[in-house]
Amino acid sequence: MLSGQQLRIGVIGLGIGRWHLESYMAIDEVKVVALCDVDTEKLQSAATRYGISKIFTDYNKLCEMNKLDAVSICVPNYLHVPIAVCALENGKHILCEKPLSISPEEGQKILEAVRKRPELKAMMAMKFRFNKDSMYLRNLIEKGKLGDIYYGFSTYLRQLGGIPKMGTWFTKKNMSGGGPLIDNGVHFLDLIWWLMGCPKPVEAFGVTYAKFGPYGKGARGWKGEPSPEVFDVEDLALGTIKFDNDASVMLDNAWAAMVEKEVIGMRLCGTKGGATLWPFKICLENNGNIISKTPDLEKMKGGNQFEHFVNCIQEDEKPLSTIEQGVTVLKMLDAIYRSAKKGKSVSID
Ligand SMILES: NC(=O)c1ccc[n+]([C@@H]2O[C@H](COP(=O)([O-])OP(=O)(O)OC[C@H]3O[C@@H](n4cnc5c(N)ncnc54)[C@H](O)[C@@H]3O)[C@@H](O)[C@H]2O)c1
Repeated sequence: MLSGQQLRIGVIGLGIGRWHLESYMAIDEVKVVALCDVDTEKLQSAATRYGISKIFTDYNKLCEMNKLDAVSICVPNYLHVPIAVCALENGKHILCEKPLSISPEEGQKILEAVRKRPELKAMMAMKFRFNKDSMYLRNLIEKGKLGDIYYGFSTYLRQLGGIPKMGTWFTKKNMSGGGPLIDNGVHFLDLIWWLMGCPKPVEAFGVTYAKFGPYGKGARGWKGEPSPEVFDVEDLALGTIKFDNDASVMLDNAWAAMVEKEVIGMRLCGTKGGATLWPFKICLENNGNIISKTPDLEKMKGGNQFEHFVNCIQEDEKPLSTIEQGVTVLKMLDAIYRSAKKGKSVSID
């Protein structure tokens, strides 16, 4: 794909996929030319609203289109593998929603397909990496300004009521891969791990709980009939991960917890300084005292994952968030689930 040519994109799955669609439409060098969803109502309504004539209920047909360069994969987690592999085999660049898949073994299948087509760009949709504060912090850490980052902590606890779409693929392990840990934790673990320079994970310990979901509680309205058959994932998970450079990460994630309000944020501790995200602050030592400041990011050039994906294709550059990294993040999440099941720490290959 030569720089300056208009890129033709297809979007598969029109839940969060509508955001992909609208984001591409805001980029000059891109034209969304095809949509796919098994829900014909959603498909028709998006096609009419955005004026897109090529619509499909079968993703194979969309991937087989000749006049198409790339696809966004925005379907339930268990469908990422067949669709990503199909798109790559048909010569399409891919932007894949998180998590890469429901397990590292499954995710590996996408990586193998990527390796067979090195000329194609394959990227994980890790939107938080593109925030100005994340970019600024990553740059600061890369320059060594915070020293060695040896500890990271991330938390995201939703209040009761935060279980998404009870009874759909979200709350079924064989389709989602798990609950809040793989749904939201994947974002936070990916971000903190990337900020720390993507060290190699070697060991994990985890615990999971399901105190509300199996009883029909914890979704909006927060009452319900006991319905364990529609909810077989965790509603709170916590874990620690150890890396080969001795650094560690601790994280927790909940869809439903007895907290006063939603809790969200992360913290990084380095030998020369530390940082928190949200709120964004940098802590540095000055004559034995800690000085904290929030950098002014007003004038910093922003960007987003969609512009980056398009740019990687047009300029033949490597995506910032790769499929290989998606597999490693799945290995860490899987290790937390394995450890929770075993009741002791497990190693990560
Ligand atoms: N990055 C983010 O912030 C973010 C936010 C939400 C969801 N996601 C991810 O995006 C993906 C989709 O999540 P969602 O919330 O949009 O789910 P959703 O269930 O709301 O939407 C999924 C869509 O895919 C369609 N679909 C199902 N099977 C299909 C098939 N075989 N072919 C074509 N379409 C099919 C469904 O009809 C539905 O319209 C998941 O992997 C999720 O983890 C990411």
